[in-house]
Order: sequence, then structure tokens, then C-alpha cells
Amino acid sequence: MPLTASKEEWGTRLGVILAVSGSAVGLGNFLRFPGQAAANGGGAFMIPYFIALLLLGIPICWAEWTMGRYGGQKGFHSAPAILGVIGKGAPARYLGLTGVMIPLAVSFYYTFIGAWCLGYFWSYLTGSLSIDSALAVPEQAAIATQFYNDFTGTAENGLIFGATGVPTVVFWAITFFLNIVLILRGLSKGIEKFASIAMPIMAVCALIVLIRVLTLGTPNPAAPDQNVVNGLGYMWNPDLAALANPQTWLAAAGQIFFSLSVGFGVIINYASYMRRKDDVALSGITAAATNELFEVGFGGLITLTASFVFLGLSGTIAAVATGSFGLGFQTLPVVFASMGAAGPLIGAIWFLMLFLAAITSSISMYQPSVAFLQETLGVDRRRGTMMMIMVCMVGSFMVIYFTEGAVFWSTIDNWVGTFLIFIMAMVQIICFSWVFGIDKGWAAAHEGSRIKIPIVFKFIMKYVAPLYLIVVLIAFCINNLPSWIAQVAEQPMAQLALGLIVAVFVFLVVCLRIGERRWRAAGLDLDGREPLAP
Ligand code: ALA
Repeated sequence: MPLTASKEEWGTRLGVILAVSGSAVGLGNFLRFPGQAAANGGGAFMIPYFIALLLLGIPICWAEWTMGRYGGQKGFHSAPAILGVIGKGAPARYLGLTGVMIPLAVSFYYTFIGAWCLGYFWSYLTGSLSIDSALAVPEQAAIATQFYNDFTGTAENGLIFGATGVPTVVFWAITFFLNIVLILRGLSKGIEKFASIAMPIMAVCALIVLIRVLTLGTPNPAAPDQNVVNGLGYMWNPDLAALANPQTWLAAAGQIFFSLSVGFGVIINYASYMRRKDDVALSGITAAATNELFEVGFGGLITLTASFVFLGLSGTIAAVATGSFGLGFQTLPVVFASMGAAGPLIGAIWFLMLFLAAITSSISMYQPSVAFLQETLGVDRRRGTMMMIMVCMVGSFMVIYFTEGAVFWSTIDNWVGTFLIFIMAMVQIICFSWVFGIDKGWAAAHEGSRIKIPIVFKFIMKYVAPLYLIVVLIAFCINNLPSWIAQVAEQPMAQLALGLIVAVFVFLVVCLRIGERRWRAAGLDLDGREPLAP
């Protein structure tokens, strides 16, 4: 008995690589990465960053691709069902719920931030975000901050419903609607097609902005130190003292997962629609490399360099202190204002690129829960999508209403977008290397593969990655958890956000229980007892 009404597949072999790359390349690359790097030792951040890429990101990414494709051959597409098969039983299956929870809950705020990008793009096109460059920089910054606070509702709850001009909620509705249209069109005609159009456009936009930034020279002769070379130096010169701080290592590991969409529950779902002989080894590394090109090559060269050239060292340090999003949405408008006549156009190109990057990532966050609802409840894609919309309406509405001080959504970002990702990554690598077995996993990863993964990764997958993650988790519990718990205890908005997370989790557990009953009744091998048919 088929689990769902239709069997879906990617249209082309390149399609799945583009879709995964689209999921990976997002706001994390252009906003989160430069902010994290600058706040954690600049060039020194790149040491733990590349170590985490090699020892965590890439091996777990290969494991995720392999498990996804394997689970797909068993007829499963959601992280809980696939991990139940790989991890051989109910504990892995229930832990696998984090792979639905993460993309769903992150989508609540991610789509909202995507809507800011659309709104800023629109504001540049229509001239409603014009800052007079004749004003002193602090005055320009005050205008940009006022616009940001009103537009994003950071100043007050409910503000985005009545902000001046086009209310932000309209941009949110357009962004959400676009995601839903793409999800309803399905894997190949929706997600794959959109990614194959959006990715090249994003690359061209990023290149235009990058060229503009790298050719800024020394725009203010009165401040000769504020030039491109020093701007690059600010981002890339290592402050080696930062390496002694565990927070630098935690931030680097968190960035790798968030950025690659590894440990998210996305890749495992996308890979489940591949054919048995489709390559996963080369596809996985290609998608990861594409992400790194956008992250280090574009994200790492544009934002902070531009800020440094126009605002100088102290202005950029102040901008970094406002957080990753402050940097993108409050500082860059001031930078664009200083670029003269081309400023609004460069601003429009930048925010269009961010918007496309946000969409290719947010669709990948809706798809896993649609697949989960389809296969647990036995409904078709349309009904699964409708149910997902209902859940998102509650979660997203809360995120877009409770905006004051950004407490609500940053609580979800902390607990789900950081902490649960570590947990999910851990569950996946343990299931793959220890329960399924590294030898079997290694053989599965090489089925149909066009490259041979260097043998050292077998050792890394089995020992290094799990150990590294254990250390990261312990350090995380010591370093970050106490202040997060205190925040929840003190702030009602944070409690509300946590309540939402728990409610969504309970809903997912109920669906999984229904699914288990259906799968058993259909005689499916949900505990991974039988090997794949030859
Ligand atoms: N991987 C996505 C990003 O970096 C979520 O934004």
C-alpha cells in the first residue's frame, strides 16, 4: 500500500544539488556569517569554522544524504520515519521528530525575515528608504534604525500591522504565499525549478554588489584609513586570543550547521526523493562547496568591508554589536546612502538577492513537514500543505505579532535554530555510524557514487564527529544554557515562545503515533529490520 497518493522524484540529477544548495545558501550566509565572524575574532573565527566544516559539516552532510536516499528506498521521506529505519526503532524515530520541528519552527521567523528583505527591496525601488547622504553619519544611522524598528516591529508589538507606508504584514503575506505556491507545485516543478532560476540570479546579484564594494577604494579622502584593504583586514585579520574562548568554537559549529542546512531535517528529506543509483557523495560535497562560495566568497567580503569603508572602525564595531540583522538592515542602508546615485540601485539588488536566498531556504523548511504530514496521516500533497499552513498560521502569526525587542523570535532561534540543531546532528551521526553501522553506511554512501570519499572520513564519521559534538554540547550547556534559562524565567515573551515550541512538538508526536499505526497496518518495515532488496 503506498504511503502517500503520489510518488515524487527530482526532475534531474542537478536539480537536487541546486535544491540543497538553495536551502543552504540563505540569510545565514550573507548576514549571520559576517556578524558571527566579526564578533568572534575575525580571521581567527575561520580556524574553528573550517575545522567544524571538515569534522562536522561535511561528514554529517554525507551521512544525511545517504540516510535520506536509503530511507526513500524504504518508502519514507520524513526524518522520524527515516531515522526509525536507520536507528532501528522507536527511540530514534521519536528523536527524529526534531528533524521536522527544526525546519517548521525556524520557518516561523525565517519567512518573516525574508519578508523584511522583500520590503526593503520594495522601499529601494519606490524610494521610500532614501537617506540623505548630506546628513552626518549618526543622523543617517538614526533614520535607518527608526525605519528598521518600525518596519520590523522591534519597537512595539503589533506594529507591523499598522506601520506607515505598506504594512510589513503585506510583505509577509506575499512571501508566505510564494512559498506555498512553490510547495504546492511540488518537488520538481516547484522547488527544483525555482532553485534553478534563483541560484544564478543570486550569484549575479552578489557579484555586482561585490564588485561595487571591492572598487570603493578610499571614498572619503579625509579618512584615508577607511579603505577597502583595511575593510578586508578588519574581517580577516585574526585575533588569535579569541581561540581561547569556547564561545568562538560554539559559534563556529553553530554557523556551519545553520549555514549548510545540516542537522536541520532538510537534506535527509530532499535526499529521500533520489533514485537508488543517484550519486550522493559528489552531490553532497558539491552543495556544500556552493554554500561555502556564497558564504566565504560573497558573505565574507561584502557586508563588513562596505561598512568599514563608509563607517570606519568604530562605526563597524557598533554595527556588529547590534547583531547580524542589525548589520544587514540598519547599517547597510547607511552604506548604500553613501554610494551616491548608484546607492539605491545597489540597495535594491542586495535586498532582491537576500529575498531570493531567503525563499530558496524557506521552501526547504516547509517541505519536511508537508512530507511528514503526508506520510503519517496518509494525505496527498495538497492536504498536507493545507495542514502545514494551519500550523504555520499559528506560529507565524505569533512571531509577526510579538515583535517587541525581537525576544519572541530570537528565543525560537536560540532553542530550535541552535540547540536542537546540535541535538539533531548528534542523533543523525550516532544512528548512522553506530546503530546502522559505519561499514554499512560507508557502502551505502558509495552506491552509485561518482567519487570515492577519502577513507579518513570513515574514522571521522565514527569517532571524531560524535566526540566533537559531545564536547560542543557540554560546552554549550555550560556557556549558554544558564543565561537562556534565566531569560525564559524573566521574560513572558520568551515563555510564550517556548510554549509554542512545546505545543508544536506535542502535535508532531500525535501525528507520529497515527503514522506508526498506519505503517504497521500496511506491513512496512518501520524499525529497519530488513535490508534493502538487492
Ligand atoms: N541554510 C540556511 C541559511 O543559511 C538556513 O540561511
